[in-house]
Amino acid sequence: MNYKTLAAFPENFLWGASTSAYQVEGAWNEDGKGPSVIDARDSYPEGTTDFKVASDHYHRYKEDVALFAEMGFKAYRFSIAWTRIIPDGDGDINQKGIEFYSNLIDELLKYKIEPIVTMYHFDLPNALQKKGGWSQRATIDAFERYSKVLFEHFGDRVKYWLTINEQNMMILHGSALGTLDPNLKNPKKELYQQNHHMLVAQAKAMNLCHDMLPEAKIGPAPNIALIYPASSKPEDIVAAFNYNAIRNWLYLDMAVHGRYNTTAWAYMKEKGYTPVIENGDMEILQSAKPDFIAFNYYTSQTAAASKGDGSDEVARGGDQHLKTGEDGVYRGSSNPHLKKNDFGWEIDPVGFRSTLREIYDRYQLPLIITENGLGAFDQLEENDTVNDDYRIDYLKQHIEQIQWAITDGVDVFGYSPWSAIDLISTHQGCSKRYGFIYVNRDEFDLKDLRRIRKKSFYWYKEVIASNGEVLKGS
Ligand code: BG6
Repeated sequence: MNYKTLAAFPENFLWGASTSAYQVEGAWNEDGKGPSVIDARDSYPEGTTDFKVASDHYHRYKEDVALFAEMGFKAYRFSIAWTRIIPDGDGDINQKGIEFYSNLIDELLKYKIEPIVTMYHFDLPNALQKKGGWSQRATIDAFERYSKVLFEHFGDRVKYWLTINEQNMMILHGSALGTLDPNLKNPKKELYQQNHHMLVAQAKAMNLCHDMLPEAKIGPAPNIALIYPASSKPEDIVAAFNYNAIRNWLYLDMAVHGRYNTTAWAYMKEKGYTPVIENGDMEILQSAKPDFIAFNYYTSQTAAASKGDGSDEVARGGDQHLKTGEDGVYRGSSNPHLKKNDFGWEIDPVGFRSTLREIYDRYQLPLIITENGLGAFDQLEENDTVNDDYRIDYLKQHIEQIQWAITDGVDVFGYSPWSAIDLISTHQGCSKRYGFIYVNRDEFDLKDLRRIRKKSFYWYKEVIASNGEVLKGS
């Protein structure tokens, strides 16, 4: 629908930006931190850095938070590294880790920036992985205990909690993210068992949060992007339904209603991937209710009918956002109406509005966008300037669509794009930059790691200061 005027962003809208621990902190083995599955990887894609130093946020968080405050952030979404808090995942608590996040939270609150905490963002403790990771039910208990430690130590100051970042991407594209255990014998079947365990763990954490912190709010944080049918051909429509059910709704139906949707279940049955569900699991899943839905959105996806000849599954160059497919289920398709970024990801701001609407229609819970952004090869120019107009353009178009969705009646309470500051991409190194703040380093030359405000920094500052009004005049 078109409108004569668009609704304003709500007062107290949580404008901010996001990072994750292993991609920004560095200090991978300092102050008692244990290795995560990311640290334990034996290789990284050729020509890309590891995560040992990253943006050195661990040592420079005060300077970084001051810059976030200068931009006017109302919120900052970051993750806590499980291995800083409990180095081996289920053993002793590391006081130095507690101290670091406690200080970070205090620093944010000093500037009235609301901390939004992701409890687990891809970096499972490697000690747990060695014991079978999410294939073991013991990892559910370990996550519940870890959650308890977080709520005990930070619950007095943190009001917004996110359980697991992009669980759907870990299940569907774990090899790109470095989260897939290379030793799994029957990976897909095993992954749906892991998925089930993660969902139970998430439900337990949500219940625990509500018991321990009645004032706090908690929700899941999957990557949700509406799937379009490649055409109006009825078979393409069914394919889009299939992929939507498996990629998107499986995760939100479970988080909100505690049930496997029928298509996802039929898919797992057909493929032989149905998980073992223990007595009591479904009751736990149904008892847990999120207070909101957080989701990440970068691009939409398009699906056509499967050809059924084994040719649907295409190599995506190990990228979580490029088209793929699955025999008998759907076939990934390009969308001729969309432009692509430097990495082949389709840019679809209108699809963002549709995604917001669809999620809200299905679940009727407040929404917050916890990632959205443009990865690009930024260039540091003379006088410490970075003219990232392409990023401003991308963000502007997406923020405008949030405003359309708000006018449609969708309850959106925050926008936290990726990323607050340059960090290391999941599998494309540090040259693929997303931040409002440039970090002066290359893949293998750490240089001086100094912070430089990009053009988008000043632009976003104005967006926040005007509560989005400035976009109307541009
Ligand atoms: C999401 C993740 O998949 O996308 C982030 O939650 C990630 O951790 C972001 O960095 C961008 O993807 P990439 O692969 O460009 O780093």
